[in-house]
Amino acid sequence: MEPDEIKGHYGTEPLLARIDEALWRAGLGDRSLGWADLVPLDQFHVGGLGATRELAESLGIDAGANVLDVGCGLGGPARFLAATYACQVTGIDLSRPFVDAARMLTERAGLSDMVTFRHADALDLPFADQSFDHAWTQHVAMNIADRAGFYASVRRVLRPDGCLAIYDVVAGHGGPPTFPVPWARGPETNFLLTPEAMREALVRAGFAEVSWADKTDAGRAWAAEMQARREAKPAPLGLHIVMGPQFADMAANLGRDLREGRVRLVQAIMARA
Ligand SMILES: C[S@@+](CC[C@H](N)C(=O)[O-])C[C@H]1O[C@@H](n2cnc3c(N)ncnc32)[C@H](O)[C@@H]1O
Repeated sequence: MEPDEIKGHYGTEPLLARIDEALWRAGLGDRSLGWADLVPLDQFHVGGLGATRELAESLGIDAGANVLDVGCGLGGPARFLAATYACQVTGIDLSRPFVDAARMLTERAGLSDMVTFRHADALDLPFADQSFDHAWTQHVAMNIADRAGFYASVRRVLRPDGCLAIYDVVAGHGGPPTFPVPWARGPETNFLLTPEAMREALVRAGFAEVSWADKTDAGRAWAAEMQARREAKPAPLGLHIVMGPQFADMAANLGRDLREGRVRLVQAIMARA
């Protein structure tokens, strides 16, 4: 069953213990944390914090806005948005260990009054219609086979003039990805669409394009830099803590896939039409 395979891919236990141990090794074990201390660990997408910042600037978020982060992972983007824009963020994720870790890290960063998390499936969001000013999703859709269902589910909880901010991996023309990649150990949990098919799915679900940008070149450069850093000196905090030793192969394959045009990156703002 697809959701179980996805849950198994992300957040193998005991995640909290591994994170806690890594924080101690990084010299952060016994002190209060700022959201920025966690950036090497909690931005689970190509481009890291820079890509999150850019997407947020493209969206534009008012203080006090109510934002839903769909597939929030460890909650890094949610904490950044709340701390930077003084907005309220609700993160949902299919992986229970990720949600537990997101709550723990948010508590440690002193942001629990602005950022909350729920364990939920993006296809069955546990919120009333039109509950959010904006929705946000980074590097999640490639795990979701029912793309029409995903976008319809997000649209339902957006207020009428709300926007969905997207930063996603899409299929390129260079052939399928080389597994494992960070979102899939094999083809069973990989559901990349071409940018054209993704845009069509969004429009069919009732979204209108505000902006659409290809971010592949920036992602390729970032992946190469991260690869060089990993080879020079393994960092105490990083996604290897979350995903295990296979993360090195996943990241190297993703870098190669970006170079070979097997995958590309899209940043988009879509308004609820
Ligand atoms: C690559 S991580 C990205 C995490 C986060 N958005 C970020 O950029 O830091 C993909 C996340 O999507 C979540 N996910 C995948 N399918 C999902 C679904 N159907 N509903 C909710 N979350 C899902 C995974 O559990 C994982 O946390």
